[in-house]
Amino acid sequence: MSYITDKAREPRRAAEGYITVPGQTLEEIVAANPARRKVLRGGLSLSLLSVFGSTGLLAACGGDDDPAPAPAPAPGPTPSQPLDYSIGFNPVADKVTADTVTLPENYSYEVLFSAGDPVEIGSVGYSGSFQSSAETERQAGGNHDGMHFFEIPGVDPQKGGLLAINHEAMDSAILFPTSYDEATATAEQKRIALSSVGVSIIEIEFVDGKWRVKRDSQYNKRYTGNTIYKVGGPAAAALGGSVVGTLNNCSSGATPWGTYLTCEETTDNYLDQSNPEEGYGWVVEIDPLNQLGAPTKRTAMGRFDHENTAYMTDASNRVAFYMGDDGTPGCIYKFIPSNAFDPNNRAANANLLDQGTLYVAKFNADGSGQWVELTQGKNGLVTGASDPGNYTQSTTPPAPTTVDFNTQADVLIKTKAAARVAGGTLMDRPEWITVGLDKTVYCTLTNNGGRRVTDAANPRATNPHGHIIRWKEQGDSPLATTFTWEIFLLAGDPSLAADNLKGNIVGDTFSSPDGIRVDPKGRLWVQTDAGTGSSTTDIFGANSMHYVDQQTRECKRFLVGPHGCEITGIAYTPDLTTFFINIQHPNGAWPSASLPARSSTIVVRHKDGKPIGA
Ligand code: FEO
Ligand code: CA
Ligand code: CA
Repeated sequence: MSYITDKAREPRRAAEGYITVPGQTLEEIVAANPARRKVLRGGLSLSLLSVFGSTGLLAACGGDDDPAPAPAPAPGPTPSQPLDYSIGFNPVADKVTADTVTLPENYSYEVLFSAGDPVEIGSVGYSGSFQSSAETERQAGGNHDGMHFFEIPGVDPQKGGLLAINHEAMDSAILFPTSYDEATATAEQKRIALSSVGVSIIEIEFVDGKWRVKRDSQYNKRYTGNTIYKVGGPAAAALGGSVVGTLNNCSSGATPWGTYLTCEETTDNYLDQSNPEEGYGWVVEIDPLNQLGAPTKRTAMGRFDHENTAYMTDASNRVAFYMGDDGTPGCIYKFIPSNAFDPNNRAANANLLDQGTLYVAKFNADGSGQWVELTQGKNGLVTGASDPGNYTQSTTPPAPTTVDFNTQADVLIKTKAAARVAGGTLMDRPEWITVGLDKTVYCTLTNNGGRRVTDAANPRATNPHGHIIRWKEQGDSPLATTFTWEIFLLAGDPSLAADNLKGNIVGDTFSSPDGIRVDPKGRLWVQTDAGTGSSTTDIFGANSMHYVDQQTRECKRFLVGPHGCEITGIAYTPDLTTFFINIQHPNGAWPSASLPARSSTIVVRHKDGKPIGA
């Protein structure tokens, strides 16, 4: 979630009786006067630590950066010597708040793709004037978020490919002279607002030492809040088989067969409430090569405030997708398709995500965990079930409500309630999940200033800075129903007095981890979405991206963003010499002083063409 989304959804959520999310400012934290708590630090026991501490991180297994097996690229030029992927950069200084992107020495960036830029052939793009929905529908949406680089058959992937980019929300300053109000918006204004969310597919190419968008590419395509989406899986009939629009496209993931999974981080259409809310809160599968048919909402994967997806495979081509619910609080889920995927035939996987089993994670205090099946008739998911509600957010538990799970469609449409009924652990806003090369799974828990009831996996009441949890599946199998877990780190800063604020970060501190990704060489990157007021930036600087050592847990600040932004989205060429990063909702004079600040995808490179991190 971003604060822009929170603000846009506020009227609807208040009407539905949701607990307001407390802010992240230090003043509010202090006002909450949190009780000091014994903090669960690092590992839980020596035996559990050994599960995580002795793995060969560069020994490749199947993680969420497995190369997609299908399009076989033409061989690229052979480097004269092997590239060195060790981390050698000097971290960016502490507490940077410049209105630009700040990088270590020897690195530079360029702006590749900003809100309003042309996407589809014939689009002219934004140049300072407000436009009609017919034009905004064909140009880049706003609030760039999750992103993935896909190879194109026959194209050297170090020099060209497709970027699939999520748009979480509007960059409203380039769309409307005043703020958007759904209650009074005209039909045309609603179309404009809905055109600015969804996904951009753009072909990019590396020419004369610089990445640029290939403007005449047949692959360039927008999927928006006005597009029609197919619905697949057990809830398809209940939704009528198709839905108008995707929206709040927060983070994302890929499949082993080379499709893009864009995640809807909202369970209602707050931009146009005439559309039934059951149509939103799903994972949507899009083929960036446009070969596998219409974009489809995959209802078997559950309906909640989806953040991203990350997958783990096994030797038999079975796959599990891990997913977080960015709710305050929310659960962590896993979806296992019923069948193996076919690594040699993309088309054979076209509807693989429509049949399978959804699980919710239960984190036990002793460091063990279970995946609890969310299937109608099991684990309390029956007619007249008792939903305990979000009992972590108040010392006075909410009154339970009765929920009917008569069919599997009921379970999937009401996944949040099903997870609570089945005993899933309510976490501190699960954001991104990533699967390491050694099959350790990491999840950022960005913050939860409203938590009042703690547990071992969420040990801080009034948790404004968040933490990162990690687990290992039993037998390193994506099909496992049990796992072991530990808290990897507690975000915060040692200069802060209270246990719930200072954390245990080694090195460069941060607040509110959000984006997280283990890259194909096993290096862990974390991006932040903390408050952008001075009470936060005086301590941590502006939002940033860090390298984090998975064994020592030392953090090194790699990038700091301009005023007002969060850092999110991470994609790269296969050799990791180019990173694509998203700067979401800047509010100063970046990237241009002559136009409103715009969310943008940037390209980061080393001056000598070395892998990022050198
Ligand atoms: Fe778009 Fe949950 O952050
Ligand atoms: Ca965010
Ligand atoms: Ca996020």
